[in-house]
Amino acid sequence: MNSTTGGSRAAPEAAMAAQVPHSDRRLVAARRALVARGVHLVPAAVTTSLLGVANETWERFRAHWDELGPDTYAAEQGTCRLRRYGRFAWSAATDRVRLLPRADFVQPENSNPLYIGVSRTLEPLTESFAADPVLRAALRLLGQVATALDDPAEWIAKVHPFRVIASEDANGLPTPEGRHRDGVTLVSSLLIGRHNAAGGESAVFDPDGRRLLTITLDEPGTLLLGDDRRTLHSVSAIRPVDRSHPAYRDVLVVTFAPG
Ligand SMILES: [Fe+2]
Repeated sequence: MNSTTGGSRAAPEAAMAAQVPHSDRRLVAARRALVARGVHLVPAAVTTSLLGVANETWERFRAHWDELGPDTYAAEQGTCRLRRYGRFAWSAATDRVRLLPRADFVQPENSNPLYIGVSRTLEPLTESFAADPVLRAALRLLGQVATALDDPAEWIAKVHPFRVIASEDANGLPTPEGRHRDGVTLVSSLLIGRHNAAGGESAVFDPDGRRLLTITLDEPGTLLLGDDRRTLHSVSAIRPVDRSHPAYRDVLVVTFAPG
């Protein structure tokens, strides 16, 4: 079950990324923009620079998406989606990321309309994924973004690697629930990769339904940030460009909420 990539083989450049200074002007700009608009797009070059990820490191991280498990709940909606799920604690005071015990995924009321009150049992993150220095660096970076929105003593980060698959016969729905919120403070989507996929347009709305941002995440490392308390989001279906082959879209969705 574990990845062959080996979480213990921490790439030095990724390990260095744990110390993104709060004063980094790109981080400061992202925090400011998120507070001002409720949504912000971080270009891939900025994200990977902040994470300190070299090309070979990214490829190693990307390989975790070849080891996801079936999402039986999405399958009930007719969508082929693979995923895993894990929870971490992070505090600004210590900047320490701590993996929490396995638990079902439950979304609060006033969030995802398909799954309110539904406890979903999902495949856990592999050990190597949970320990991957790129994931740990991403959690620290997102934690520093989240503190622009709120300042609890501890945050709970929920980590969802997703692969949505489309075929000639069936579009792939990244968000089968349609437009929704996740019932958290910060919601983020990091594009890991796309293959043979058209569509997959991300849209973010204010509570009155006004469209704040529409973007197709197409460059690996592009990071979409949203203040989930005052926005809703959705992603349109993907379909194969070459209809004789399947298409897929890989993303890492991470949410932050007060612990
Ligand atoms: Fe969502």
